Formats: sequence, structure tokens, C-alpha cells
Amino acid sequence: MSVYLDHNATTPVDRRVFEVMLPYLQQHYGNPSALYRRGRYARQAVETAREQVAQLVNAHPSQVVFTSGGSEANGLAIRGAIPNMYSLAVSAVEHASVLESAQAVARQGVKLGIVAVDDNGRVTESALASALTHQPQLVSVMVANNETGVVQDIAQLALLSHAHGALFHTDAVQAAGKMVLDFKSLGVDLMTLSAHKLYGPKGVGALICDSRVELTPQILGGGQEHGMRSGTENVAAIVGFGKAAELAGCELDIRQSHVSGLRSSLEQQLAQMGEVVVFAQQVQRLPNTVFLAIPGIDGETLLMELDRMNIEVSSGSACDSRKIGPSHVLLAMGVDELIARCSIRISFGRDSSEADVTALVSALKQQVETLQSASLLAWV
Ligand SMILES: Cc1ncc(COP(=O)(O)O)c(C=O)c1O
Repeated sequence: MSVYLDHNATTPVDRRVFEVMLPYLQQHYGNPSALYRRGRYARQAVETAREQVAQLVNAHPSQVVFTSGGSEANGLAIRGAIPNMYSLAVSAVEHASVLESAQAVARQGVKLGIVAVDDNGRVTESALASALTHQPQLVSVMVANNETGVVQDIAQLALLSHAHGALFHTDAVQAAGKMVLDFKSLGVDLMTLSAHKLYGPKGVGALICDSRVELTPQILGGGQEHGMRSGTENVAAIVGFGKAAELAGCELDIRQSHVSGLRSSLEQQLAQMGEVVVFAQQVQRLPNTVFLAIPGIDGETLLMELDRMNIEVSSGSACDSRKIGPSHVLLAMGVDELIARCSIRISFGRDSSEADVTALVSALKQQVETLQSASLLAWV
């Protein structure tokens, strides 16, 4: 089996999650909207999952709107949070599902402000303050970046946005299950989650939405999710999301200390290699994420070479892997385009081990030597 070091792209479904999902694909297949017993049984399971997801982020179950994943929840927040929106601001390092939703509403006439980040990928209060002078009605800044792992000071940014009359949405897809997340104390109005980044199934997520937000649904029909998101619920996936959220809450400390130990070990060994640049190393990052570049070695080439050696990493965001071009996150941080093109992302998970770190470091050393000796380096 290969060494999997791309947990920010997705995680395997936890065995305990899989086991609670299975009956809802087989014997408990009722439609949760049906009034007879089989339907009520499915409804009960969805509501239990709603409580479990709410608990992970200290929200109220009534604030949870299940969606088909993080992308849909982000789109719902951007398009649905403000009726007749005329102005919006999002950070430059958001996931494509936020950036492209924002660009889509901008094409329909909404004024769009892009909030700059500093060299470390952080949204500073002064950058946000200058975006707020354009009076956006909604601000969206992610808790933690999927590529760099950089964590933003969301409580401060939300406070500042509220002081200027804007609602605040945060994409917490990467943060959930990797750090403490508290919807209430962060003071945000909307928060996006996705199950498959925390050992749950793919294709299910949630938008946590404060009751004061007048959310406009984007999918209409049967009126499920209190009318906020129509469509027959994916019961098994929602049940799995609930269980994964419960486990993530219970096991947060142990998961955090495991991956941060591996990250320190990797970064110490990378430091000894010399040529490696680790992005945003000086600021708070997700404990499992290392975004690095070996100047002179193209990131895509390195990724493919590592894959040949049975090590799976990503170059930037997996969701962007079909797009050609350097990471928009690194460019927003002011990283030179040539260096940005050399980036790869390592993201550890629960089952990663010190042996994986050793395998990766030795493969990286081998790649540096091979590519150098084959004169494939464009520049060193
Ligand atoms: C920060 C962030 N937001 C949103 C998403 C999209 O989530 P989903 O894959 O559930 O649509 C991702 C997925 O990579 C992500 O990393």
C-alpha cells in the first residue's frame, strides 16, 4: 500500500462511521419525510446527526442545514445569506467554491471586494478594515486554509465586520476535527463544514446558520431542512457525518498531538535538507499541514515522482489539481511564481506514522539528487 499524506484532500471513512451508516442503506431506507414508522426512524437518525454536528462546533441543532458538502454550503452562504445583496468581500485565499461563487454574483452586478493577505497568508485587521470601507453586507474568511493550513483570527475579523454592519461567514471545512471550533464564541453568522475531511463520507456537509440570517434557499422543492435546502436527505451519509463529528470531538486532543508530532519531525528533517522552503511556518497553522517548495523542482513533477515511489501528496489543493497554474494562495501571499510552481502539500492524518515521515524524507532526498544529477532542474 502507498503512503497517504493528503488528508486535507480527503480522509478514509472511519470504520465506526461506516458501521453506523450501513443499516441506513439497507433495512432503514425510509424517506425521512414519510409519516409512517420507517420514515420516522430515518427522521430520528437525521435529527440525532444534527445534534452531533451541532455539538462539534457548539451550535444549536436548529442552526444546522445539511447540504451535499462544503462546496454547496459555501455557495448557499455566498448566494443566500443576504437578500438582494449589492456588496460582498471575500479573502484572496478562499477555496474555489467561495471565490467562484463570489465571482458569479459579481457578474450579476454585486460589488466584490477581495481582502488581501499578508506574507504569511493572514488576513490582517487593517486589510479587512480597508475592504469594509466599501460597505460589504457579507464578509467571508476561512478559518484555516486548505493549502497552507494558516489559521485566521476569526473572532476578531467577525467582530470588526459586525461593527461595520456586515454578516460574517467562515469556511471551517479544514478546521473542523483538527482544532477547537466554537460557532458561538467565534461570533460568526454562518459556518461551512464537510464530513469527508474528518473521517466521514463524501458528499455531505452543513451550513451552520444563525437564526437571525434570512437565508434564501438555492435548491427548491420538497422543503426539507426547514425549507433551506430541498431534496430528500442522504440519510446514511448524514448519519455518518454525525458519528464522524462525535468522534472528532471526543478524539480531538489525541489526533492533534499525533499529527503535530509528525509535523515537527518532518519539519526538523526538512530543515536539515537545506533547499526546502516551508510556507507560513512562523504563524499558527493546522497541526497536520506542511506546504513546502523545493525551488527548482516543479511541484507537479515531484508529485508524480513521489507517486511512482508510492507516496501520495498534493500540489496545492486537490480540488485545483485539474487546473494548470501556481497556487492562488501562494501568489496572494506574494510568493514568487517560480517558487509557487514548486509547491507540494503534505497533510498528515490519524493513521500517519513516523515511518511515513521517514519514507517521505528519503524520497524527497532521492528526488533532489536524481533531478539535480539529470540536470532537470531549471535553476537551483
Ligand atoms: C477549505 C475548503 N472549503 C471547501 C471545500 C469543499 O468541500 P467539499 O469537498 O465537501 O465540497 C474544501 C475541499 O477541499 C476545502 O478544502
